[in-house]
Amino acid sequence: MYSYRKITDDLVYVGVDDRRLPLFENLFPLERGVSYNSYLLLDEKTALLDTCDHTVAHQFLENVEHALGGRALDYLVIHHMEPDHCGSFEDIYRRYPDLCIISNMKTFQMLEQFFSFAIPEKNRIVVKDGEEFSFGKHSFKFLFAPMVHWPEVMFSYDITDSILFSADAFGVFGCNNGNIFASEQNYKDKDFVDDARRYYANIVGKYGPQTQAALKKTGACSIKMICPLHGPIWDEDLSFILEKYDLWSKYQPEDKAVVIYYNSVYGNTESIINHFALELGTRGVRNIRIYDVSKTEVSYLIGEAFRASHLVFGATTYNNGLFPKMENLLTDMKNLSVQNRTVSIIENGTWAPQSAKLLKEILDGMKGITYLASPLTVKSSTVNREALEELADRIAKDVLS
Ligand code: FEO
Repeated sequence: MYSYRKITDDLVYVGVDDRRLPLFENLFPLERGVSYNSYLLLDEKTALLDTCDHTVAHQFLENVEHALGGRALDYLVIHHMEPDHCGSFEDIYRRYPDLCIISNMKTFQMLEQFFSFAIPEKNRIVVKDGEEFSFGKHSFKFLFAPMVHWPEVMFSYDITDSILFSADAFGVFGCNNGNIFASEQNYKDKDFVDDARRYYANIVGKYGPQTQAALKKTGACSIKMICPLHGPIWDEDLSFILEKYDLWSKYQPEDKAVVIYYNSVYGNTESIINHFALELGTRGVRNIRIYDVSKTEVSYLIGEAFRASHLVFGATTYNNGLFPKMENLLTDMKNLSVQNRTVSIIENGTWAPQSAKLLKEILDGMKGITYLASPLTVKSSTVNREALEELADRIAKDVLS
């Protein structure tokens, strides 16, 4: 059964929710699924704005066919070549072989890499950054956004209706469930924002400077609505998501808050961390979050690193190195360019503690890391209580200042 929904008089949502995919990019858990958004412009000419993942192609084709209402499909605008959006390109192209594809040169190069057939010159319109194109009543301006988060990514701005089509930017994990507009979802709720941040941090997080450049470019446009390729269409209070993106892409914390990451083999490090958290709580630190890195999947831990100002690592020494899950977290943080955080380390080692030194080696390769104190060493379950309390004092004063 087809499913589509009007956005404006001549713009239709033809995307598909995917509740079956367990791991986005075969990596990130999806608790609420994901939507592959696609939009159909019904102007004097018709234009499909991106396609969908190949796994939902059947539903997607049905949506497009019904939304077209018997009209031909004249254009396909490709904003992003990643297969969650271009996976059904061939299905669309085979069904509408006369359509013209509008995109930039990099996209056409990637099309040839992903698909084995040649696209004739007459079916290609190669656009440049800032170039405009009219579909009739609607004029679009193409704004390149390289490395947000692939090199060919471009946005387009519908000058006529002040709508920004933003590729992956401003996307969120989670299905739309019929509520395709942000105004129909509780987008300020913690769960939603956590999923928005987790999406940004893990998918785009590495490319903060490029995201800042794209924000500056789109800042010159008067925008009434943002249509991303995942999650809801932003149709109200746009500053909410724009400000979040500005903070995240500058690697500035959202919350002055403490997140504690620990690993514990037999529970001794965990016991010290629980004690330490109570010391922080006693000193007035609120909303502390503690994560056992063995239990919580790393994309959630990364999301939290993009949120909080103060990060504490409680790390055991393991095989004379870091515990693998802890090492994975730190490596991922470094790869995703986490910056500007205040960090404290509590290491544990029964005979030759190494984890503080190894953690610092990774953290020292990241920008803007501030240490409030020297690492604290636990030997098995033995710790200097005064030093632990002094560390709690320092963190509490800094967070509460
Ligand atoms: Fe939603 Fe970069 O693909």
